[in-house]
Amino acid sequence: VDLSPFNTLALPSCAARYLKITDPAQLTAPDIAGTRRFVLGGGSNLVLTGDIDGLVLHMAIAGKAKTGEDAEAVYVTAGAGERWHDFVQWTLAQGWPGLENLSLIPGTVGAAPVQNIGAYGMEVAERIHSLTAYDLDTGTVRRFDRAACRFAYRDSVFKQEGWHLDGRFAITEVTFRLPKHWRPNIRYAGIAEELAMRGIETAMEMTTATPADTRHCPTPRQIADAVIALRRRKLPDPAVLPNAGSFFQNPVVAATAAATLCTAHPGLPVYPQANGRVKLAAGWLIEQAGWKGRRLGPVGMYAHQALALVNHGGARGRDVLALAHAVQNDVRRIFGVELTPEPVYMPNIAFDPSDTYEN
Ligand code: EPU
Repeated sequence: VDLSPFNTLALPSCAARYLKITDPAQLTAPDIAGTRRFVLGGGSNLVLTGDIDGLVLHMAIAGKAKTGEDAEAVYVTAGAGERWHDFVQWTLAQGWPGLENLSLIPGTVGAAPVQNIGAYGMEVAERIHSLTAYDLDTGTVRRFDRAACRFAYRDSVFKQEGWHLDGRFAITEVTFRLPKHWRPNIRYAGIAEELAMRGIETAMEMTTATPADTRHCPTPRQIADAVIALRRRKLPDPAVLPNAGSFFQNPVVAATAAATLCTAHPGLPVYPQANGRVKLAAGWLIEQAGWKGRRLGPVGMYAHQALALVNHGGARGRDVLALAHAVQNDVRRIFGVELTPEPVYMPNIAFDPSDTYEN
């Protein structure tokens, strides 16, 4: 089966076997346990580096419903195969805000916890109550509460153990905890700016405002629309220009290393973390290294957001590996900073220098 329609970088890859999973019971089939297998969601955080010598389990379990409620929150459960953006818009339409900052992220509900998707001041971990996964090694259904998911920046137990050939877990459904006492999250400066452009005032003290203080309170829908506008402006639409979102994680370095870098490069955006370390803007480093809008063969770094790697047409996995390698080399040489790819490589092979392009 050709997987190019199932990955947003539109890379060609042939899977030896392919199974569309619409019901969790299919995962219990006896021939799956002992087989090399790869769990595929929306394919939006994936670099297919070659053919898949195994079974691809394409998660397409549908369904979404309110499954609980208490004084503090509404609990909503969705099948792994639901499209993430459609699910978020549906929760908003039902009057259950809380996921609006994560509007327009490509991919599926089941993939969202794997790399703990995040954008515009929020990570999905903040809203996940629990999830169900099928353990393909032991053939058992397992329930994970939020702590058991071991969420971190663009990471989880599922990314560590689940997303490679012989991966262990197939997430089948996710339960979200959506707060009844909702407050707008406008920590990301661009949201307030976008709202202001639309004539929607936001008070500076908004993030700490009491629920009663709604004078300058944007609605969840207004925040979703602001996020959608921001994303459309900055990030390439995979349907138009194939890509996998941010191609590298924002590197987190020791405070001393960040201070040295800031002295040498005063424009460098830095984000101090709770643990004392400092996150750097990879997009800035890549732009300064000269890669914004620059191509290598059929791929390039996006002209409006240097952190996104785009397929200008006809790319293969090795073209992506070559560009990632070239960008990593330049950023290492100029800044001494190591960039880690954000998507998973499948199969997880190393870059072969004989594949380089002249440029
Ligand atoms: N910047 C540049 N040049 C660029 C791109 C960015 O100088 O080409 C600078 C910006 O000016 C800004 C800083 O870098 O000062 C940060 O840029 P931005 O706010 O656009 O966000 P990001 O750090 O590049 C992260 C996430 C995105 C998410 C945005 C918005 C990661 C790896 N990426 O990008 O997530 O949408 O913040 O919250 O954390 C994704 O993971 O696929 C993704 C798109």
